[in-house]
Amino acid sequence: MTEGKSEITPIELFFEIERGDFVRAGEASSKIKKKLLRLGFTGSTIRCAAIATYEAEMNIVIHSLGGSLKVKIYPEKVVLVAKDEGPGIPDVALAMKEGFSTAPEQVREMGFGAGMGLPNMRNCADEFEIESREDVGTTVTMVLYKGG
Ligand SMILES: Nc1ncnc2c1ncn2[C@@H]1O[C@H](COP(=O)(O)OP(=O)(O)O)[C@@H](O)[C@H]1O
Ligand SMILES: [Mg+2]
Repeated sequence: MTEGKSEITPIELFFEIERGDFVRAGEASSKIKKKLLRLGFTGSTIRCAAIATYEAEMNIVIHSLGGSLKVKIYPEKVVLVAKDEGPGIPDVALAMKEGFSTAPEQVREMGFGAGMGLPNMRNCADEFEIESREDVGTTVTMVLYKGG
C-alpha cells in the first residue's frame, strides 16, 4: 500500500471545431458547462468556463482554418486549451485589445465581431496564455481554479 498523494488523472473532454461551422458552434461550450455542473463546480468557475470556451470556439469557427478544444478537469482546477491550425495572429498584442476585430462584414451581421472575445477570456481566467505563429496556428491556454 502506498500512502500520501497519488497522481490524479484528470477527466478529459475533446472537441473538434470546424471552420465556418456556425450551426454546431457553442456545442462544446454547452457540453463542458453541463459536465462541470455535474462534477460540482459552481459560480464563477462555471460562468468563466462557459464564456471562455464559447469565445474560444467562436474564434476557431470565425478566424481559423479549424481546430480543437481540449478540457482537463481536476478536482481543484479546469484547464482549457483551444488550438487551431492557422493562419495565426500577426500581432497578438493588438488582437488582445478590447474592440479590435478583423471579423468580416457577413460575420458582424450575425452579431459577432465585437472584439471582446480574447479580452473576456483573459479577464475571467485565473491563468491565460496565448501563443500564435503565422501560418502555423494559435493556442490559447486558460486555467480556472475552483472558487478562484
Ligand atoms: N484563433 C484565431 N486565429 C486567428 N486569428 C484570431 C484567432 N482568435 C482571434 N483572432 C484575431 O484576434 C481578433 C480579436 O479576437 P476577439 O477578441 O475574439 O474578437 P472577435 O472574435 O470579435 O473579432 C480577431 O478579430 C482576429 O483578428
Ligand atoms: Mg472572438
